[in-house]
Amino acid sequence: MDVLLGGSALGPGLFEQAMEACPQALSIVDMQLADQPLVYVNRAFELLTGYARAEVLGRNCRFLRGAAVDPGSARRIRAALQQGERMMVTVCNARKDGSEFLNELFLEPIVGASGAVTHFVGLQNDVSERDRRQGEAHAATQLRESQALPGRLALDDRIEQSLARAQAMGTRFALVMIDLSGPSQAFEADSPLARSQLYELARVIGEAVPHAGSSLSRLHGRRLALLLDPAPALAQLAELARRVLDAVNRQLASQANGATGHLGIAIGPVDGSSAQELTVAAGRALDRARLQSRAGEFSFFANAQDACLLPLRQMENDLAEAIAAQQFSLVFQPIVALETTAIVGFEALIRWIHPVRGPVPPAAFMPVAESTGMIIPISDWVIDTALAQLAVFDRLGGPPQRMFINISASQLAQPGFVDALRQRMLHHGIKAGRVELEITERTVTDHSAPTLQALRALRQLGVSLAIDDFGTGYCNLHNLTQLPIDSLKIDMSFTQAVTQSNAAASVSRMICELSRTLDLQVIVEGIETEGQLNHFRALACPYGQGFLFSQPLAPEAAIALLQCGKPLFGAAPVVSAPQLLLLDDDQNILSALRRLLRREGYQVHTTTSPQEAFEILATHPVGVVLSDQRMPQMSGTDFLRQVKKLHPLTVRMVLSGYSEPNTVQAAVNEGAIWKFLCKPWEDDALREQIRLAFLEHAALRDTARQQADAALVRAQLESEVSQRDQRLALKTLAIESARDALLLLPIPVLGIDPSHMVVMSNLEADRLFGGGASLMGEFMAALFPPAVEQALAATEPVSLQLAGRPFRLHVQALGGASAPNGHLLSLVPGSDE
Ligand code: FNR
Repeated sequence: MDVLLGGSALGPGLFEQAMEACPQALSIVDMQLADQPLVYVNRAFELLTGYARAEVLGRNCRFLRGAAVDPGSARRIRAALQQGERMMVTVCNARKDGSEFLNELFLEPIVGASGAVTHFVGLQNDVSERDRRQGEAHAATQLRESQALPGRLALDDRIEQSLARAQAMGTRFALVMIDLSGPSQAFEADSPLARSQLYELARVIGEAVPHAGSSLSRLHGRRLALLLDPAPALAQLAELARRVLDAVNRQLASQANGATGHLGIAIGPVDGSSAQELTVAAGRALDRARLQSRAGEFSFFANAQDACLLPLRQMENDLAEAIAAQQFSLVFQPIVALETTAIVGFEALIRWIHPVRGPVPPAAFMPVAESTGMIIPISDWVIDTALAQLAVFDRLGGPPQRMFINISASQLAQPGFVDALRQRMLHHGIKAGRVELEITERTVTDHSAPTLQALRALRQLGVSLAIDDFGTGYCNLHNLTQLPIDSLKIDMSFTQAVTQSNAAASVSRMICELSRTLDLQVIVEGIETEGQLNHFRALACPYGQGFLFSQPLAPEAAIALLQCGKPLFGAAPVVSAPQLLLLDDDQNILSALRRLLRREGYQVHTTTSPQEAFEILATHPVGVVLSDQRMPQMSGTDFLRQVKKLHPLTVRMVLSGYSEPNTVQAAVNEGAIWKFLCKPWEDDALREQIRLAFLEHAALRDTARQQADAALVRAQLESEVSQRDQRLALKTLAIESARDALLLLPIPVLGIDPSHMVVMSNLEADRLFGGGASLMGEFMAALFPPAVEQALAATEPVSLQLAGRPFRLHVQALGGASAPNGHLLSLVPGSDE
């Protein structure tokens, strides 16, 4: 005991008295003595085990082991003792009288002055009763009896026990709150169905948590709590939470009641020192998980973060009021055919003007609406209002418009959604083919049965489906080919970068090609400049929307626009003069250059901003670019590097007052710049350089044209070769099929060459005249009577007896009169009498 308690200011006597008085069974083992004997047990230990202290001191604790102990626990105890690690294990122990009990055993190492573990303290706890109750609860689950899971009071009780243990042992435990929220409030009702679904959930949670010391309770209707004591390390806890969440969501999907699981986790005693505090903390973490995502998330409690939830709570209340007071309105953004810029439809977009806060952006309220289920009434209203507006557009008498409406995953999975939509369409007199629902990529990756069912039902109803913000989510090609999708809407983040970033330009090109291959239509979102429009026109994208054409319009403005019937944006006039772009941050230099080149017959574009330069390049067929090197936004070489990627046929030059040999050399070597010219310049020399640059541009253009022509010819040739190959393959297939058919024909068929040798015989001929052996190579004279050979000259079928059976012999000369190539003989059983 001295080792343990020596050095304490309170003295050993007091500690021993305290340990004796402790109601928890305690034992201390000396790890430095042979076979690790007990050196101390307290009074509670004697009471629990029935052994007197004198009977046990000096013995290894294994004498306590009951018959039903599982070898895994013994192994784990051994490992923890060897490594000097703290552990908790539940083992089967036997009392002195032989009765067995479940011992929840905590082992805590004591480290001596040398740094080595000198002792282990054991804390024994009889949990047989708790285990029995858990066993009963489990049995109840399996039998789906109507008894409830342990409730709130039982949970509080357990948390308090865990808190006490945590205080005594310095352990930690986790309170995991599970919420099953969904539009149908499936679990609120205390129906037998809800009960049975809940018990199924309890079962899958139990399977996902093979964790000794875990217990599940039901807080209220749709909220469960899982207590894990001790808590695993954080990383494992996160893994376990993900497992539970996945299991819950899989089970919920199979129950098809539209519910989704979310998890909130609090760690005791860190996040709270009472059952009440910990439940609140786990509840807050849960709220955050729900607000983060509708699709099922988990979140740990973190004070600072969760304090941020207050404004979200406020938003929740405001939204509920907004629904009741009808504070929402719709605006309509025209969607145009890119080629003609004629309006082909509108996207309905929601707006919310809060009476005090003013306009609230959808990005601020939609996630809250999603996570709280309020999205359902809101989306119902949006659909109805948008359809009513489409009916109004129809009455204007112009070309029929389409209406694009955004819907959420939860709305889609809502039972009866498609039926309700059908009724609303009927009500407003909207025919199939006029409505397109926009869903996110996330919805497409949701393969739950209700979602897939709804997608197919929509297809049957003639409602098209578009994937919104395409390119920003997780939709894979497989989904695109498997699901009934009609269009892709290219996300505005790509659109706005296409004239400046090679990566965005490539992605947009790929999306367009992909859509063509998959027979999907492309709608480009967020077109704001003529350069962007040109880019997508060049890719033959059919549709687009964005501020270049029109901002979202109030219903009256949309009607006025349709009535005036003009295209929304006219194409830029075509210019035939060679086009030169000058970029320099110094306006004076630009003016001087402009003066110098005025009379050369070029169309000169000047700008001080690289961004604007990109836009000019996207909208005009610029041949030569002359850029300053030192500019505040980006260097001339970097600018020209980017230009090379986006517009490889331009001829690019730097005009700089600084030589910067390294940078320039690198850019020249990469082919980003053609020539490096120096400031101040010689007028004539510069004019000459620009003239040469345009010559170079013309040469580049010609080469590119020739290459394109050659590529076209090559592609045509390849296509012809591939068609010929296909035809050949088909022919071969046909020949093989014919040969097989001939071989298996149930009448004897033979082919003979001009020398009357058999060159082909089918199975039936081999069987009848060769006893199963092939007749190939045999001569007719050896096989058949002379009548057969004589019949070769006959023009009509001849009746004869062969192998004791009557046949009608049909002879077909092969190869024609000019090049006779033998005969085909078919023997049809029977005679004509
Ligand atoms: C133990 N051990 C232990 N074992 C057990 O089965 N029931 C018990 O109550 C206890 N109590 C206990 C307390 C303390 C403080 C220590 C250090 C250890 C473990 C026991 O001594 C033994 O290591 C394990 O049972 C493994 O057995 P073998 O493999 O060593 O025979």
